[in-house]
Amino acid sequence: MDGGGLDSGPMSDITQRIAQGYAFDGPALELGTVVHDGQVDPQARVRIPLGMLNRHGLIAGATGTGKTKTLQLMAEQLSAAGVAVFAPDIKSDLSGLLRAGESNDKIAQRVTDTGDSTWTPTAFPTEFFALGGVGTGTPLRATVTSFGPILLAKVLGLNDTQESALSLVFHWADTNGLALLDLADLRAVIGYLTSEEGNKQLKELGGVAKSTAGVILREISELVAQGAEDFFGEPELDTADLLRRTTDGDNPGRGIINLLELADLQNRPALFSTFLMWLLADLYEELPEVGDLDKPKLVFFLDEAHLLFDDASPAFLDAVTQTVRLVRSKGIGVFFVTQRPSDLPEAVLAQLGNRVQHALRAYTPADADALRKTVRTYPITEDYDLEQALTHLGTGEAVVTVLSEQGAPTPVAWCRMPAPRSLMAPAPEQAVDAAITGSVLHAKYAQEVDRESAYERLSAKVHGTADESDQADQDPPGSNPRPEREPARRERTREPEAEPTIVEQIVASGAFKSFLRSAGSAIGRRMFGTARRRR
Ligand SMILES: Nc1ncnc2c1ncn2[C@@H]1O[C@H](COP(=O)(O)OP(=O)(O)OP(=O)(O)O)[C@@H](O)[C@H]1O
Ligand SMILES: [Mg+2]
Repeated sequence: MDGGGLDSGPMSDITQRIAQGYAFDGPALELGTVVHDGQVDPQARVRIPLGMLNRHGLIAGATGTGKTKTLQLMAEQLSAAGVAVFAPDIKSDLSGLLRAGESNDKIAQRVTDTGDSTWTPTAFPTEFFALGGVGTGTPLRATVTSFGPILLAKVLGLNDTQESALSLVFHWADTNGLALLDLADLRAVIGYLTSEEGNKQLKELGGVAKSTAGVILREISELVAQGAEDFFGEPELDTADLLRRTTDGDNPGRGIINLLELADLQNRPALFSTFLMWLLADLYEELPEVGDLDKPKLVFFLDEAHLLFDDASPAFLDAVTQTVRLVRSKGIGVFFVTQRPSDLPEAVLAQLGNRVQHALRAYTPADADALRKTVRTYPITEDYDLEQALTHLGTGEAVVTVLSEQGAPTPVAWCRMPAPRSLMAPAPEQAVDAAITGSVLHAKYAQEVDRESAYERLSAKVHGTADESDQADQDPPGSNPRPEREPARRERTREPEAEPTIVEQIVASGAFKSFLRSAGSAIGRRMFGTARRRR
């Protein structure tokens, strides 16, 4: 077979027929032009309706086949259409979005092949984040309380028993109004529960064996030793800051592209992938229900998505699946980027309506199996031999099927992608630094704050320095224990103001015991056990 063609009709008939399936009424992202029998038809366009981006998608393909450039292309067009973007930037190559691209022969050829007559070098509004400020970018942090026990268990590599023990510890802290802002707080709470003094309460918690608490404590110490302390704390990212558009400049109303530097990914894959999931869960929890919009508010790319699912607990898998399903009606589109579709669980894969599959390799029997499995997930096509097509795609080409405006799968298209208009290489360091220091978000998040939280309260308890006069100010059990977000900055060294014995009173009370039995619905923890925010 040559070039993947099965049909012997004139090329333009076939390519035009395929393109018919992509002739939408509303605005759409341009993915490229149809290739058939080794020929590209610059008139036959392949597109994704903006209104279908919240039906999620997959960008897959072997290494070096064009996944990141496809992401870049989509990010550019989303920004131009006024849709915000979030994407991890694993190799810093997406930072090039900040700079106008540079034409060369290869790009000129692609521009011709893809009928992209308006190609002009263009820079895009880009924000740079780095987890905990480690790396180049505005520090992105979350509190331990908000992160919740399920995600944290994933980061710590806990087994199911340890995970439920950790959930009980969170529950205890929530119920007792102890804010877990950073890892020191969590350590303090577990330390307290395993001390002489806290032993009674640990017993009351029922599910937490002292040895299990010890294991969790050791895992936290290990996480701290890896430098994770920087990631947990305040000010916590307000995820609404990821939905911004430009308000000034030559081009107001463009969606801002938020890049999270993950250059150190290989050293802490669980932490990074879980952080991405926290962001998504938090967006889900914070945003109002909007149903299907003309275009999404944000498209969220989860690059290296396989990391999310390696060694994931059933609770974690379930929460990912649910979040992805439900976030759709909040105006968020999620695109998973990974090498093989089989990296994702079936339940997630089944929800991805838009598919951009770059070349797959078929070196081993396992590869061949994966290839056949992938082929079976495509709509039936008479136009291509898909096994052949998927292994013969060129760089920056993909087999595509998306959802039409009516929600039906479009005809399978072998598609050549246009070239990004921004730089296809990392932006110069000085340009990135200037973008970071000039950003309003940098001013908001650069400085870490350390409010009074569980650590201080429990230290006070252990050292007997607390004063008992402000008992009346305590939250009753069952109320949301999350601290208000007042900007109060209190130093660790300062004398704690909290009074501690209320903890014992609450724990001993019947209300607390019945609350423990009530599965925690009142404390505002949801799908991932992440905490609901009060503003
Ligand atoms: N749409 C495109 N336009 C122009 N060049 C492209 C395009 N897509 C891919 N390329 C070329 O292919 C190279 C590899 O693409 P890319 O970095 O996107 O691959 P990848 O699939 O993300 O690889 P990895 O798995 O290693 O991250 C690019 O550096 C670029 O030269
Ligand atoms: Mg890549």
